[in-house]
Amino acid sequence: MEPAWCFIISLIPLVEFLSITSASGLKSQQQCSDSGGMPAGVRAGYWSPFSSRYSPVSSIDTSLYTHLYYSSVSFDETSYAVAPPPTDESSLLAAFSSTVKSGSPSVKTILSIGTDEYKVDVSNAAFSRMASDKNLRGVFINSSVELARANGFDGIDMSWIFPATQMDMENLGVLLAEWRARIMEESATNSLSEPLLLTATLYFSNHLFGMPDSNLDYPIDDISNNLDWVNILTFGFHGGSNVTTVDAPLYDTTSHFSVSYGVISWLDAGLPPCKLVMGIPLFGRSWFLRNKAKNGIGSPTAAAGTKQRKSNQTGIIAYTEVEDYMNSASTVVTYDNQSVAEYFYNGDLWVSFDSAQVVQHKIEFAVRSQLLGYFLWTIGFDDSNSTISKQASESWHQYAQGGFGTMHAGGSNQYVAFNSSSVSFGSWHLKMLSYLLSSVLLLVTLFDSEYQ
Ligand SMILES: *[C@@H]1O[C@H](CO)[C@@H](O)[C@H](O)[C@H]1NC(C)=O
Ligand SMILES: *[C@@H]1O[C@H](CO)[C@@H](O)[C@H](O)[C@H]1NC(C)=O
Ligand SMILES: *[C@@H]1O[C@H](CO)[C@@H](O)[C@H](O)[C@H]1NC(C)=O
Ligand SMILES: *[C@@H]1O[C@H](CO)[C@@H](O)[C@H](O)[C@H]1NC(C)=O
Ligand SMILES: *[C@@H]1O[C@H](CO)[C@@H](O)[C@H](O)[C@H]1NC(C)=O
Ligand SMILES: *[C@@H]1O[C@H](CO)[C@@H](O)[C@H](O)[C@H]1NC(C)=O
Repeated sequence: MEPAWCFIISLIPLVEFLSITSASGLKSQQQCSDSGGMPAGVRAGYWSPFSSRYSPVSSIDTSLYTHLYYSSVSFDETSYAVAPPPTDESSLLAAFSSTVKSGSPSVKTILSIGTDEYKVDVSNAAFSRMASDKNLRGVFINSSVELARANGFDGIDMSWIFPATQMDMENLGVLLAEWRARIMEESATNSLSEPLLLTATLYFSNHLFGMPDSNLDYPIDDISNNLDWVNILTFGFHGGSNVTTVDAPLYDTTSHFSVSYGVISWLDAGLPPCKLVMGIPLFGRSWFLRNKAKNGIGSPTAAAGTKQRKSNQTGIIAYTEVEDYMNSASTVVTYDNQSVAEYFYNGDLWVSFDSAQVVQHKIEFAVRSQLLGYFLWTIGFDDSNSTISKQASESWHQYAQGGFGTMHAGGSNQYVAFNSSSVSFGSWHLKMLSYLLSSVLLLVTLFDSEYQ
C-alpha cells in the first residue's frame, strides 16, 4: 500500500523549463481584512491513516496546530458519492475528530477528499466527469457534507491532483461555487452549526506545467470567492531527477520549481495572500550516489534511496529517519543558503530535506509574504518530540508578532534570492528576469505598506 502523498509528490515534477507567462500587477493586495488571521493564522497538519501504525491520532501534540486534516478519502466512480473508507479505516475516520478535540477542543478538523492513488487515471477521470455534470456535482457535494458532519469534522478539503484541461478548470470553478452555496444552506437550516470550512489542496503554482494543455491556469476568482483558503503543494519538485538536487528549495535561480516561485505566481494571479497556505514537507528525498566522491548538488545518482520503514517507498525518507542518520558520525551535513535547503551524505546515500533551520526560514518567508499560514505534510513523519511542528509553530508566532529582528534591516529585496552573474540572457532567462523583478516590486510594495 502506498500512502497518498507518494503519488502526489511523484506527479509534481513532470516537466521543467517551460516558459513563464507574464507577471503583472498587484492584484493580490485586495480582499485581505485586518483579521487576516495573523498571528494565529493557519498552522495545519495533514495526518494520513497510513501512518496510524506508528503515529496514532492519540499521539498527536494537538497544541501545535490550528487545523488537522484527515488525508484522505476518495469517492466512488460509479455513484459519484464520497466513499466511506475501507473497513479497516472507517474506525479511524470515525474517531479522528473526537480524539483530536479531546486534547484541544479549539482545533478544527478537516476531511480531505482526494484523487485515489491506487487508480489515478480512473479517479481523475471521475473527478472530471463529476465536475462537468450538475446532477453528479450535487450527489458529490451532498455526500461530502453528510460524511463530514457524520464524523464530526469542521470542514472539507478537495485534493484533485490535478485538473488537466481548461474545461476541467472551468468546471472546478462551478463546483466550488455550488459547494459553497450548499454549505451555507446547510448551516442555515441547521442553526446550531457553523458553516463547514471549505479548502482545496492545489498545485504549487497557479499555472500547471507539463500538462497536455499548455495554457492551464486555476480559476482564481472562483477559488478566492468560494474557498476559505488554498493549500499549495510547494514540495516534491524533483522526484524523477537522475542527479542529486534539493527537493523543496525556497529559491531557485535556474528554474521555476521553488517555493517562492509558486507563492508569487498565486499572488500575482490575484489570489489574496490571506487565502494562501504554504506547504512544508516532513519528508526528504534520497538517492544512491554513482560515485561517493561526487557528493554535492548536481552529482550523478545510481538509484533512488532505499525504502524506509515509515515512508514505505523508495526515494522518500521521513524527517525522523533523517534525524537517525544525523546522529551518525559518518554523516556530513550541508546547509545551502542560496536555495535555503539542507542535505547530507553518508557513504553513497544522499538526502535533501527540510531541517528545523530551513523551516524557520520558510516560515519567515510565509509571514513576510503575509500568507494566511502553512501546512505540514505529513505529521506522522515528525520525530517523537514533534521537532519540526514545534519549530514551525514557534517561528510563526515569533515572526507574526513582528520579530524579524536584524533580518528586516536587510531590506525586502533580499527576499527574492537572485544571482545576476549566473544568468545568461537567453529568451527564457529574460522572461525569468522580468518575472523576478516584478516579483521584487510586488514584495517591496507589500512590505512597505506593512512596515512604513
Ligand atoms: C509497503 O509497500 C508494499 C508495496 O510496495 C506493500 O505491499 C506493503 O503492504 C506496504 N507496507 C505497509 C506497512 O504499508
Ligand atoms: C442535495 O441536497 C439538497 C438539500 O437537501 C437537495 O435540495 C438536493 O436535491 C440534493 N441534491 C442531490 C443531487 O441529491
Ligand atoms: C539524466 O537524464 C538526462 C535526460 O533524461 C540525460 O540527458 C542525462 O545524461 C542523465 N544524467 C545522468 C547522470 O544519468
Ligand atoms: C550564506 O552564508 C554565508 C556564511 O554564513 C554568508 O556570508 C552569506 O551572506 C549567506 N548568503 C546568503 C545569500 O544569505
Ligand atoms: C526528545 O527530547 C528529549 C529531551 O530534550 C531528548 O532527550 C530526546 O533525545 C529527544 N528525542 C528526539 C527523537 O529528538
Ligand atoms: C553567483 O553565481 C556564480 C556562478 O554560478 C558563482 O560563482 C558566485 O559565487 C555566485 N555569487 C553569489 C553571491 O552567490
